Amino acid sequence: MNDPRKLYVKSFGCQMNVYDSRRMADTLAPHGYAETAAAAEADLIILNSCHIREKAAEKIYSELGRVRRLKEAAAAAGRRLVVAVAGCVAQAEGEEIIRRAPAVDLVFGPQSYHRLPELLARAARDGKAVDTEFPIDDKFDHLAAPSAAATRARGVSSFVTVQEGCDKFCTFCVVPYTRGAELSRPVAKILAEIEHLAAAGVREITLIGQNVNAYHGEGTDGRPWSLARLLHRVAQIDGIERLRYTTSHPRDMDDDLIAAHRDLGTLMPQLHLPVQSGSDRILAAMNRRHSCADYRNTVERLRQARPDLALTSDFIVGFPGETEGDFAATLSLIDAIGFSGAFSFKYSPRPGTPGADMTDQVDEAVKSERLQRLQAAIDRNQAAFNRGCLDRTLDVLFERRGRHAGQLVGRSPYLQPVQVVAPAALIGEIAAVTITDIASNSLFGALAATPAPVFAPEPALAGAGA
Ligand code: 5AD
Ligand code: SF4
Repeated sequence: MNDPRKLYVKSFGCQMNVYDSRRMADTLAPHGYAETAAAAEADLIILNSCHIREKAAEKIYSELGRVRRLKEAAAAAGRRLVVAVAGCVAQAEGEEIIRRAPAVDLVFGPQSYHRLPELLARAARDGKAVDTEFPIDDKFDHLAAPSAAATRARGVSSFVTVQEGCDKFCTFCVVPYTRGAELSRPVAKILAEIEHLAAAGVREITLIGQNVNAYHGEGTDGRPWSLARLLHRVAQIDGIERLRYTTSHPRDMDDDLIAAHRDLGTLMPQLHLPVQSGSDRILAAMNRRHSCADYRNTVERLRQARPDLALTSDFIVGFPGETEGDFAATLSLIDAIGFSGAFSFKYSPRPGTPGADMTDQVDEAVKSERLQRLQAAIDRNQAAFNRGCLDRTLDVLFERRGRHAGQLVGRSPYLQPVQVVAPAALIGEIAAVTITDIASNSLFGALAATPAPVFAPEPALAGAGA
């Protein structure tokens, strides 16, 4: 038999891309491609790109500079290296990528991954291939499942895409254009995928989608199911001990989903709920369809359902028209909520989005200065949240060996990384850990003699909600 050809996939951007990259590798495995971690020995390099901000898109072109040198070195050694660009930059720029970076052989968007073997054949025959259609058929029907060995090698925590695309059209965002209209996968297919992962040893599932809580896939009864209903069903799968979902839109946090945070023990008490800004004027200009008060109200209801819920968010500074007063409102919101962490970005005008055409763009220097102040506020919030975990005993799911001998790294229920001296046999297991120290947002702990206290809603709260 021929030696397998070597595939190197590099993901940029969101978890969706990480998931898609794995599924591309799974799809190519039966066609004789084995993954390698060394780009220099690859026969096929796929860069799975992100277009969300200009900086993210530019990363692909600088990476392509390095890849071109690898391609030249391979050619000098008499070997053909095929270079592919996938993902949202590919979707948005199409052939332009080949014009700007002639080393690229293949360009294809997020809806074409299942056609990868056919596209590779086309590139081999015609020299180049570009595919940025939004096909009618569902790519998930055609993407191959990973082997049990591949699943195990990827660890005990896994992402599963349940919906893709977005119909919200926030005025800063390219997602509705690059990923297309919102599409939810049917429940039966999601369950089959998770059962397969659980059988291979996966213990934690994060359901992912660009607007995951807008999920409305076809249920096993033929009717549309909400994300809450899907979570309840996934929680019944043997072996799945932890559930998470991301990324959610505040408008789609419905009563059932909030109640799931109270009723489902396997649903971890951490939620990523981007708010973007604390100013109603800016939220309206962003077309977010919620006010600051709506957001605070949703958080309050979530915390009634699950008092220890850790919240994280995304923020954009310097959206067109943002005044110092608008920005001050964002800082007040941060302190009013108390986030356990957040991502923050300078507004980056994306061609084709309404925000890019707004006339009152904010000066770069002002954006940079606001970003610094915003990050300082988030760091304060995060440090306070972490301090609150000191001396507590938390359940940790151990994922892998740590940097130092004898050490393992796992995640707390709040998604914090925790480093513990523990036997390697605990990888894939959940154990109680007492938090003893904190350094730069990592927690350190020791295996506890007694189990972590089980979360129990206070009786007054148990009947609330809905
Ligand atoms: N500029 C800056 N940040 C952006 N995001 C999305 N689009 C832009 C943009 N044009 C941020 C939002 C979103 C996160 C994934 O990326 O905060 O929630
Ligand atoms: Fe983009 Fe808004 Fe959709 Fe999120 S909800 S993917 S920010 S358009």
